[in-house]
Amino acid sequence: MKRVIAKVPPDILHPWIYSKRVADPGDAQPGDDVLVYNTRGEFIGSYLYNPNSILTLRRYSRRQEPLDFIAIKDRLYRAYELRKYLFRGTSETSYRVVFGESDALPGLIVDKYDKGLVFQITTLGMEKRREWVVKALEDVFQPEFLVEKSDSSGRREEGLPPRTEVVFGTVEGPLTIEVEGIRYRVHLLEGNKTGFFFDQRYNRLRLTRWAKGRALDLFSYTGGFTLHLLKGGVKKVFAVEINLNHLNLLKENVTLNGFDLNRVVTFHKDVFHFLDEMLLSGESFDVIVLDPPAFTHKRGGKSGALRGYRLLHDRVLRLLAPGGFLATFSCSMHVSDRDLLESVERSARALKRQLVVIERFQQSPDHPILLGFPESEYLKGWLLRAY
Ligand SMILES: C[S@@+](CC[C@H](N)C(=O)[O-])C[C@H]1O[C@@H](n2cnc3c(N)ncnc32)[C@H](O)[C@@H]1O
Repeated sequence: MKRVIAKVPPDILHPWIYSKRVADPGDAQPGDDVLVYNTRGEFIGSYLYNPNSILTLRRYSRRQEPLDFIAIKDRLYRAYELRKYLFRGTSETSYRVVFGESDALPGLIVDKYDKGLVFQITTLGMEKRREWVVKALEDVFQPEFLVEKSDSSGRREEGLPPRTEVVFGTVEGPLTIEVEGIRYRVHLLEGNKTGFFFDQRYNRLRLTRWAKGRALDLFSYTGGFTLHLLKGGVKKVFAVEINLNHLNLLKENVTLNGFDLNRVVTFHKDVFHFLDEMLLSGESFDVIVLDPPAFTHKRGGKSGALRGYRLLHDRVLRLLAPGGFLATFSCSMHVSDRDLLESVERSARALKRQLVVIERFQQSPDHPILLGFPESEYLKGWLLRAY
């Protein structure tokens, strides 16, 4: 393996080394697995190298070892063992099985949809190992189908074109999965992410306990929160989503789970416009869920993202009935849980509303957070109650 010298301390926990810290790349080639040493000659770890990305080095091991077929397969086994342990004693068959750096496989995401798998490659180093990845996934999981959904924006920064394809097996139209007692129709090829947001599984469950009255599910996607609110006993849910295909699946999911479609009102709208219209109508809601897409994937985009949250919080707090609950989430990597709470606090101050924090939310443990890598703790949220 080639050697790369970087200006980093020997006890670095964070798995990324940015381009400006690379002191001497030697003759390492894009996509290589390399041994990284610091300028004092101390060994740091084994990394994937891509000089064309500002995230030039991504660690996959603290030992000296190549990222070959055996190493990939070994990591897949370990990742699967953790999830089997996590869901032991349950009937869960659909969840995230590989979460990049947290499973020592930087640039690889794999979600299990019952008997099939969907994977996503986001880095050049993993792209170069795609054949091994496919073979190792087959060996470890023996899936009935394998789909690649490599369409994330991060691929562009790695110099990779998007790729979405069925690698093997039959995938026609939406399939049905069950997650935490709720059934969902999922479009693997057309949906967001790999088709379903597994990261919210326990937050949705926890929200069923607080369900009451009239609820608003903003950025609803295919209804993860809507369905749990219905299960929790709300009278009516207003679901707002900009993509009509997602809303159509939401309605299918409502009937699939045996709920009365009359309890759901769908709005095919931009949430920001919807909220302005609602404010004029004088409506109020007992539960509001705010689960927007990531407003930024870059550190530099944080202030813009915070402006987005402020706009939303200013509006939803005015729509929240006395005694009502607000569940607010951020999946923007560079927005912390404190940033999010502060945003609600600022809106509360401006509107002279008193709120208490009831719960703190995070991504479910099938998306483990790597210690020393705050970027892996991307989903955070708060449940607040208004006086
Ligand atoms: C993070 S997902 C929501 C996931 C959902 N809560 C669930 O439990 O599955 C965000 C959703 O917001 C939608 N979206 C993005 N921008 C929007 C906008 N301005 N107005 C309405 N929906 C929007 C996307 O289409 C996507 O379905």
